[in-house]
Amino acid sequence: MRYSALAPGKRLRPVLLLASCRAAGGDPGKSLDAACAVEMVHCFSLIHDDLPAIDDDDLRRGIATCHVKYGEAVAILAGDALFAFAFRLISSMDAMATIRADATAALAAAAGTPGLVAGEVLDILSEGTEPDLQAVQRIHAWKTGKLISASCEIGGMTAGAAAADCHALSEYGRWVGQAFQIADDILNETSTAEELGKAVGSDRERNKQTYPAVMGLQGAKSAARECVEKALTELQGLKGDTEALRSLAMYSIDRSV
Ligand code: IPE
Ligand code: IPE
Ligand code: MG
Ligand code: MG
Repeated sequence: MRYSALAPGKRLRPVLLLASCRAAGGDPGKSLDAACAVEMVHCFSLIHDDLPAIDDDDLRRGIATCHVKYGEAVAILAGDALFAFAFRLISSMDAMATIRADATAALAAAAGTPGLVAGEVLDILSEGTEPDLQAVQRIHAWKTGKLISASCEIGGMTAGAAAADCHALSEYGRWVGQAFQIADDILNETSTAEELGKAVGSDRERNKQTYPAVMGLQGAKSAARECVEKALTELQGLKGDTEALRSLAMYSIDRSV
């Protein structure tokens, strides 16, 4: 669990959660348990995504994947345990009981069906099918967008924000998540394993549904930019400091890792 969770990932989801808390006028220092919980769900998804039965990858965050290092059985169980740990943490965080309950429910909804796990199912079942925009949009929205959206929404909840502000943050996250996964598809075609710390060229090898497969690299880049613009418009009504969220939206596509 420590090997994978503490490896040098970007920590995008927890940072989005803290920045969303600030944008909603809250104190991010009080949201650290929720931030760790979303990162643990994310790390569980990476460990399982890399397993031989799913993407069968050997490199993650610049080091051997969990199953390569510890064997498949321990990797499956490390993922399971991170998933459970996430819910223990968020359901017992230092917040009002209603906020704890809402945040726990939001994380559960994002993780399951329709959510991250459902997205992974579609991703795998769609391998080898004809590139299709609607299919790839749904896969990306579920496997990546839901957890990123929930991270932002939960950040609003921990700030005690009104439902409308939590909804705006959730929508911002939905667009950032879509943009972020399009960028992941692009980097899989254009980057190197040394730079990314994970395999490249693997989407094409496995005939995955990706944006570049549907519309080419330039089309994918423009689609990602459009998503970022939509994300930014969601921030207009928020009363806190939205600067970090603005930068993070840009970063989701202008990144080399
Ligand atoms: C990888 O996520 C999986 C996707 C949803 C694209 P990240 O690119 O956030 O991975 P880490 O956390 O930095 O390793
Ligand atoms: C990302 O899947 C989403 C999850 C891990 C849930 P990918 O398979 O596209 O991500 P990478 O490229 O392995 O990081
Ligand atoms: Mg995958
Ligand atoms: Mg993968």
